[in-house]
Amino acid sequence: MNKVYVCHKIPEAGLNLLNGKVEYRCWDGDGPVPRDLLLKEISDVDGVITMLTEKVDSEFFDNAPNVKVVSNYAVGYNNVDVEEATSRGVKITNTPGVLTEATADIAFGLLVAASRRFTEAERYLRSGKWTCWHPTMLLGREIFGKTLGLIGFGRIGKAVARRASGFGMKVIYHTPSGGPATDQGDGPRWVSFEEILEKSDYLSLHCPLNDRTRGLIGKKELERMKPDAVLVNTSRGPVVDQTSLYESLRDGVIGAAGLDVYDEEPISLEDPLLSLENVVMLPHIGSATREARDAMATMAASNMLDVLEGKEPRNPVN
Ligand code: GLV
Ligand code: GLV
Repeated sequence: MNKVYVCHKIPEAGLNLLNGKVEYRCWDGDGPVPRDLLLKEISDVDGVITMLTEKVDSEFFDNAPNVKVVSNYAVGYNNVDVEEATSRGVKITNTPGVLTEATADIAFGLLVAASRRFTEAERYLRSGKWTCWHPTMLLGREIFGKTLGLIGFGRIGKAVARRASGFGMKVIYHTPSGGPATDQGDGPRWVSFEEILEKSDYLSLHCPLNDRTRGLIGKKELERMKPDAVLVNTSRGPVVDQTSLYESLRDGVIGAAGLDVYDEEPISLEDPLLSLENVVMLPHIGSATREARDAMATMAASNMLDVLEGKEPRNPVN
């Protein structure tokens, strides 16, 4: 029987699929599996189900001589050196599609929360500052009629655009991987990178992290944005230069931000971003619905089994 290592306990829906088909071991501790243990555990396995916390690099492959497939339990696969995997004949798979709506909800939720100051307002209430209603208390920004810029216009970007249309927003988008696209009707319109920075009242990031998008939003780009703009990031932290973002939020270069992802995860409690009122911060929960996580588990397990059974997996990355 093929052997599989699962780097973190995934929902039963996925583990049940593995039962009886492969012999699997599974890390069930707090936090990610310690690297030393991981490198030992993968020494005799044919496949590994990884989380976005595992770096799948040449050291990983050196320690896993029999591995034929790495099934990443995430849509993003910036934790995987795909080129290295390909050169070693290892198949990589991911979990696209099933987390699209959940992630789009978090992006739109962050947009509203940052714009209308939800978390700041809750801190205000909880700390006893709410002594009376008054006309200029905690004023935020209107959403209706404003322009939403989307960087990246794949499944998740399009799902955010659908939500925005219900809120009466105008949607423009830019695709770092190329364009311009041929847009039809009066739906979302492709614009250049400069234009999206300058025109967006809200800018939400939905591109993968790669060499082209690392540091895409830095000091220069933030300065080009509207002074009251709201930046939303549910993609990967390093797409934004976090130090520049902190300085821009502190100095009023942009208005507010809603973040689900960071340079370092978990973010340090010493990070200066935590000292600001105008940023809403979530702990990377974009795909954290029961439905999405179950579907991701089923998909990750199926991709694994497909490759081990000699079939083409449904969601190949390479
Ligand atoms: C989560 O961040 C994912 O890429 O699935
Ligand atoms: C990313 O893979 C997306 O689904 O937009």
